[in-house]
Amino acid sequence: MGFSKSKVAIIGSGRVGSALAILLSRQNFREVLVFDRNSEKLNLLKEQFNAKIRVSVSLNDAVAGADLVFLAVQDRYIQELAQEISILSRDADSRPQSQQYFAHLSGSLTSAVLQPLAAAGAVTFSLHPLQSLADVAGAVQGLAGSYFSFEGDHRALPTAEFIVEALAGHLVQLNASDKALYHAAAVVSSNFFIALEEMAINMMRGIGVDSETARQMLLPLIRGSFENLERVAPAEALTGPIVRGDDQTVAAHIAALTEKLPDYLAAYRTLAGLNVDLAAQKSGVSFDDFPSLKISS
Ligand SMILES: NC(=O)c1ccc[n+]([C@@H]2O[C@H](COP(=O)([O-])OP(=O)(O)OC[C@H]3O[C@@H](n4cnc5c(N)ncnc54)[C@H](OP(=O)(O)O)[C@@H]3O)[C@@H](O)[C@H]2O)c1
Repeated sequence: MGFSKSKVAIIGSGRVGSALAILLSRQNFREVLVFDRNSEKLNLLKEQFNAKIRVSVSLNDAVAGADLVFLAVQDRYIQELAQEISILSRDADSRPQSQQYFAHLSGSLTSAVLQPLAAAGAVTFSLHPLQSLADVAGAVQGLAGSYFSFEGDHRALPTAEFIVEALAGHLVQLNASDKALYHAAAVVSSNFFIALEEMAINMMRGIGVDSETARQMLLPLIRGSFENLERVAPAEALTGPIVRGDDQTVAAHIAALTEKLPDYLAAYRTLAGLNVDLAAQKSGVSFDDFPSLKISS
């Protein structure tokens, strides 16, 4: 694929599709085209970001002649969209050729969902940005410097490397069979972290601090932990009562939760257990140092 002269099509102008379109339109591609079934989203993309993007009038218009097509739609629509494109191409007597590349951006699905396109001769892969992208503006910022996981037909690797470089990201390769555990790790790191912070905010509310103040109070603490983790491995970054072997404090936490927020006890005990495993690497503590964790609530 001659990258600088290539035509890139993006189907879906949501958070990731729009950000991709904006970032890639700043590069030297022949054309960056976007199609979405939701014309309001397309217009918003043009108006708000004023990017050098051509808005396609139809799926067929976007895909026909594109060298690289991103299926940037919700995971649940990727397979049917792949099927639709393969039928479109067949009806137009322009079946995807081996020079045409198709990618989706899902972290949990493998490139196997693009099978209808692969069966028609196209080169298929998945390229997942390991990032939490809540809106288009945030995604434009967030994609730069992110890791992108490549999985699929190895003929697409140079294409994926070129795209990731254009996005100032880093590429890692995955086996299809590893994607579920990989995605679970992403969920733990991103989604579960948010749930934990909500738990901490609710605990603060338990002593009468309002949600917004609690959120602000916790942010510097989160940043401190984050900065520690940037410098050293988790076992070294760990601070707090468990790494000090302080069962009295842990017992006080359990008593307070039992009284005020008993629904959080199970999560507290599970996470405290993970902390003990980690602390064992740093300070040599063991479960025997925490009798309060052994008592069921
Ligand atoms: N957001 C993240 O944090 C994130 C991070 C990494 C990877 N990803 C992956 O990126 C992909 C896109 O996610 P997103 O968050 O950008 O989704 P999104 O914001 O919901 O946008 C998807 C867009 O695609 C449109 N669409 C759906 N089916 C279509 C079709 N058949 N033809 C044309 N347009 C269609 C949707 O229209 P409607 O609104 O009408 O449905 C919507 O505008 C997913 O595979 C996701 O797993 C997302």
